[in-house]
Amino acid sequence: MSNDAYALAQDAAAALKSAVGISSFDVALIMGSGWVPAADAIGRTVAEVAMADLPGFSAPAVAGHGGTIRVVATEAGRHALIFLGRTHLYEGRGVEPVVHGVRTALAAGVGTFVITNAAGGLRPETQKVGEPVLISDHINMTGANPLTGTTFIDLTDVYTPRLRELARSLDPSLQEGVYVAFRGPTYETPAEIRMLRIIGGDMIGMSTVLEAIAAREGGADVLGISLVTNPGAGLVGEPLNHLEVLEVGRATAARMGTLLAKVVDKL
Ligand code: 6GU
Repeated sequence: MSNDAYALAQDAAAALKSAVGISSFDVALIMGSGWVPAADAIGRTVAEVAMADLPGFSAPAVAGHGGTIRVVATEAGRHALIFLGRTHLYEGRGVEPVVHGVRTALAAGVGTFVITNAAGGLRPETQKVGEPVLISDHINMTGANPLTGTTFIDLTDVYTPRLRELARSLDPSLQEGVYVAFRGPTYETPAEIRMLRIIGGDMIGMSTVLEAIAAREGGADVLGISLVTNPGAGLVGEPLNHLEVLEVGRATAARMGTLLAKVVDKL
């Protein structure tokens, strides 16, 4: 069964290369569909394809949140593959669609991934809403794993130390933190948020960890960045509002784009 998933990714990579007319990519960025302004800042778009037109990608869960794969040329002449929109585990299609984009990029020869997300902050004492935080490590509480069988992969350095140092050298004000993933789609209860603080979490979200594992299985390097869009439930009093979360993401995406553009050019 999982052999099929890798074969499907090979097919998707071949289809992607012929659709965009480019056959080698320096980096892949996995971004939510709300990250278009950040993607715009990374470079000049040279091609864009709808994910749904490639083998193995499912139609977007929410109309208008259509996933596309964009090829961007940076100022330094690098080619970045940008996944705008991702499949989440909470959509209920299982784990393989969640990591299909990563596996497609791996099959296309990508060796470096930048994985971004919007996350709840578990440390409002030190985190400001709207700030990017580097992911230093993760706690996978989704109950899922993209690997099956006896693939006992070491996850000591899921988020490549060299890439974290590079990002910090470009933006010394960047904080680091441990990203916890829940399956969703509900946000957490205040009791769950208190638990996550106790077990060492700094950010909470519903993505990234399975993608990072799939990238590491493929031997790639990973840089993870969370944009803290709101504090976790119960930490500051206000209930969480999905529209507010999206709005904060939009407002700060351009700033994230500037950072990502620098990272891509210095890889
Ligand atoms: Cl508070 N929780 C989760 N699971 N995902 C989020 C979030 C919170 N805020 C933004 N994304």
